[in-house]
Amino acid sequence: MPENNNAFSPMPPWPRTNYCGALRAADAGREVALWGWVATRRDHGGLIFIDLRDREGIVQLVFNPAHNPAAHAVAEGVRGEYYLAIKGAAVRRSAATINAELPTGEIEIMASAAEVLNTSLAPPFPLAGPDSAAEEIRLKYRYLDLRRAEMQSNLRRRHQALRGARAYLDEHGFIEIETPILFRATPEGARDYLVPSRVNPGRFYALPQSPQLLKQILMVAGFDRYYQIARCFRDEDLRANRQPEFSQIDIEMTGPRLEDIHRMAEGMMASIYQYGAGITIERPFAQMPYDEAMERFGSDKPDLRCALELKNLTAAFAGTSFKVFAEAIARGESIYAIALKGEHQLSRRELDEMAETLRSRQGMGLAWAKVAADGWQGPIAKFVSAKERARVADVAGLVPGATLLMLAGPRGKVRPLLGDLRLALAAKFKLLDAAALKFLWVVDFPLFDYSEEEKRLVSVNHPFTAPRPEDLPLLEAGPQRALEAHALAYDMVLNGQEMGGGSIRIHNAELQLKVFELLGIPRAEAAAKFGFLLDALAYGAPPHGGIAFGVDRIAMMLCGTDSLRDVMAFPKTQRAVDPMSGAPSEVDARQLRELSIRVAQ
Ligand code: AMO
Repeated sequence: MPENNNAFSPMPPWPRTNYCGALRAADAGREVALWGWVATRRDHGGLIFIDLRDREGIVQLVFNPAHNPAAHAVAEGVRGEYYLAIKGAAVRRSAATINAELPTGEIEIMASAAEVLNTSLAPPFPLAGPDSAAEEIRLKYRYLDLRRAEMQSNLRRRHQALRGARAYLDEHGFIEIETPILFRATPEGARDYLVPSRVNPGRFYALPQSPQLLKQILMVAGFDRYYQIARCFRDEDLRANRQPEFSQIDIEMTGPRLEDIHRMAEGMMASIYQYGAGITIERPFAQMPYDEAMERFGSDKPDLRCALELKNLTAAFAGTSFKVFAEAIARGESIYAIALKGEHQLSRRELDEMAETLRSRQGMGLAWAKVAADGWQGPIAKFVSAKERARVADVAGLVPGATLLMLAGPRGKVRPLLGDLRLALAAKFKLLDAAALKFLWVVDFPLFDYSEEEKRLVSVNHPFTAPRPEDLPLLEAGPQRALEAHALAYDMVLNGQEMGGGSIRIHNAELQLKVFELLGIPRAEAAAKFGFLLDALAYGAPPHGGIAFGVDRIAMMLCGTDSLRDVMAFPKTQRAVDPMSGAPSEVDARQLRELSIRVAQ
């Protein structure tokens, strides 16, 4: 525990009249009372200057020993991050001492009284300027990290964004309803966080991966339009844009057509950007079918700020004598490529490194060629005929100077790898305009995918997603044909990030059972796990659909950062740990006994 020598005084000696950072030139001449942290202290051997900080920013205090020796004596003893209460007169600074960089820079406060309300240990990292400390340290001392202007601004922007969402949804007749956190598993594709029940030994609640089933049941229950800022929990591998605990703006409506949901979601996003950043976004957003997104960009969340596209060269290489490609084509595989323009040159070493990374991490060989006016250069050039070169140039729109990066293999593997390469190249050659907002709806997702690992169909979205009505016969024709079915599902993508996703739901119990069956969930198991949903659907469930947005991701985009940790007050590390509190922690043997749990060592 840090030593604290102050007499304990639980309330400030005087009320605050203003926030430090909110003072302006117009306040000159006023007597003010402020509270705040000492950001900096400069002793000019006589005058002492202190920058005092609160949530609105900093203001300069001047302590003059000739005018106020008592206050000056206090200022002599303070250190960084001490918490002070001061009184003084706001005065205009002389023209020479105006600080144009600070919103409060035209004035300063001539302190007449000061009290230290609390001392502080020296902070483990500087709180001014951009973050300089390792993330682990920032999270351990999160209360100090959050004092930094950048984090204060990020969390306030997030608050404004949520105000924008709420304002829009309120205006459009959505009712905010809370749903339980202690619930049972909702399959959203991640592992569950489980909570043991003391009063029902051996039984567990699952924390919701999303309120999916409950919001559907609220439609059955007649609320017609629902929303909630909902906390979701998913035990999955973490990345910069994934946290184990995150928030959604979760929405459901009765009877929507696809375009009703899209226009509503665009309107809400417009309101979020207006409140959160003062930016007017263009609507309606563009749409792209999933198949096209994968074919052109190798991703179901394409970043449209970059014009580079994948090119399918399989037909252009038909009958090639280049063995690697010929064998791939014979196996029914594909050849895709990215063509870089002449102004974007990769050195031989960069190309070799890229090829080595693909070989060691993915077991894929990268074939590359530089296109000159008189032919191709590179290791594979001699195996490619003039006719093939002409066909490739045609398909890929090649001009002399271009570099062609080609991968041969199963389509499902090659396209995403080139999609990742596309983004890496876009970053390397700075092809992504940081200020651009490229919103996109990705639509027409497949309903199912085949999991090689589990040897069964899995839902691309979640099992409650409705198929396109015209694809219903495919569901009756067995798992193989069912793979061709498309879903009434959509994702909202912004600059390559999935901001939200949703679907029209299945509101018919028989169809829901059919989908469970195709997913390898027999009737009995479906009844045991989802009986409450199937029952609800049997009582006049209206057609319904909705969408959920990642609040943290929205805030991340609004704040221009690339980590969710910069927009959450108390996030977890990559290892799902909170370094500040030490969560997750061990628990008493007694607590475990009460819960009928034994920990296997
Ligand atoms: P989905 O699983 O696509 O859909 O989630 C919706 C949105 O939530 C955000 N998100 C996350 N954000 C941070 N960390 C995570 N681990 C994380 N996982 C998801 C993303 C994503 O687009 N019930 C459905 C929605 C529906 O069908 O209405 C659902 O949860 O921005």
